[in-house]
Amino acid sequence: MANPLADELTSARRTRPCVLVIFGASGDLTQRKLVPSLMGLAHDGLLPPGFSVIGLARRAKSHDEFRRELSEGVEQHGREGASRAYSLQQGHFEYLQGSFDDPNAYARLAARLRELDEQRGTAGNRVFYLATPPSAYATILDNLKAAGLSKEKDDTFSRVIVEKPFGRDLETASALNAQVARSFREHQVFRIDHYLGKETVQNIVALRFANSIFEPLWNEKYIDHVQITVAESIGVEGRGGYFEEAGIIRDMIQNHLLQVMTLVAMEPPVSSDANAIRDEKVKVLRAIRSMTPAQVRERTVRGQYGRGFVQGQERNAYLDEEDVAPDSRTETYAAVKLYVDSWRWAGTPFILRAGKRLARRVTEVAIHFRRPPHLLYGGLHRKHLHENVLLLRIQPDEGVSLRFGAKVPGPDFLVRGVRMDFNYGSTFASSTADAYERLLLDAMLGDSTLFARRDEVEEAWRITDAIVAGWREQTDPLPSYESGTWGPEAADALLGEGRVWRRP
Ligand code: BG6
Repeated sequence: MANPLADELTSARRTRPCVLVIFGASGDLTQRKLVPSLMGLAHDGLLPPGFSVIGLARRAKSHDEFRRELSEGVEQHGREGASRAYSLQQGHFEYLQGSFDDPNAYARLAARLRELDEQRGTAGNRVFYLATPPSAYATILDNLKAAGLSKEKDDTFSRVIVEKPFGRDLETASALNAQVARSFREHQVFRIDHYLGKETVQNIVALRFANSIFEPLWNEKYIDHVQITVAESIGVEGRGGYFEEAGIIRDMIQNHLLQVMTLVAMEPPVSSDANAIRDEKVKVLRAIRSMTPAQVRERTVRGQYGRGFVQGQERNAYLDEEDVAPDSRTETYAAVKLYVDSWRWAGTPFILRAGKRLARRVTEVAIHFRRPPHLLYGGLHRKHLHENVLLLRIQPDEGVSLRFGAKVPGPDFLVRGVRMDFNYGSTFASSTADAYERLLLDAMLGDSTLFARRDEVEEAWRITDAIVAGWREQTDPLPSYESGTWGPEAADALLGEGRVWRRP
């Protein structure tokens, strides 16, 4: 049955005609995410008239071969309606063979873009997507500038979308930011963190600022601690080489988890303007002090997955994965306890944990409230009196629930934890779109609210660099955890007296 609330979902946001140029168009990201998401937008009528895509990559390939590859990607990874949209749109996808360091390729690109402006009315508007390994970014950025493609004239726009990883520490991220700034101004730059495109991550802001009941409680007086979990049941899935360099701290915590945390912890922004929101987010990061090595020892736990069973399937250890050193000390799990030194949050820890090969895939933010000051129903019943938890379920099973105590029916006065639930799927009768749909649309619209600003990225690296430096000094063996469990046991002690990890 159609849900009447779904009518309100029709978007009035319209993009201006433009060409999307994908560098690294032969790669996995283009097939799995970018084109299927574009076709999701096309299905919903959200792409502008005249919209065209040029895929640029090294390999020789005809337009038809390129289109066939994309068609398979859309078929496999697109949502309902995406394949049909692609069959109508595929003529507007074309391939340009070129080496990223060949100025000639950029001259051909510029010429083709001008032709498309004539033929398709794209009016000089371009979005460049860097879907290449980061080592190619500098070359592409320099060449775009040299070919005059990064310049915005009169009413036209030229934007660049940069994929993660955005550097591997503060130093490399600052260098990359400086490099980007030599070709594009900050308002033209869109640094992707796909977690920000998830509907339920955006719902954190709606929940906090479109309601008046939560905000008065949103501080250290009422909130005991916050748990932010991104648990995955998969392992490194053939990306051992990349993961050895990154570890879970760079892969997930520096970006996705810290971004989610800023939305939970930020002050109300003065407006919904992209910079007003990002100003508040960056203030949260600035208020997190860099840990000393002693604090790293006290406030963080690492682990690496060993063999085990995940949902009934036997799985190997991280050390047995391809491209992983036999004596690797790379962490596949980390939990870190962060304090925001601000009036609102002094003393309330935010505990972030991320891990591969855990018991199940779940992303959630759990706001644990303090217990009542006086336990009227103490004694025997105390153990039944659950704390109040506001749970923001980001994925899967998207929704929000609130746990509180209720009287168990019967003559005794027993109190038990119960749940009040909101479920996205059943309430809005629609599934949430892939994060890339929203982010691609926003980049075309020029709305950078859901993208990481230069200073945010650098502050986040400052925080994680200190953790990595502390770990480097540690020589004790890295705890191993069995695949399919909730991570190393040492993580239990991290929470502090009387607190327990959620095991969803
Ligand atoms: C990516 C990481 O950024 O996020 C991956 O590189 C991880 O290691 C993925 O698996 C998780 O994203 P999602 O949307 O599936 O939670």
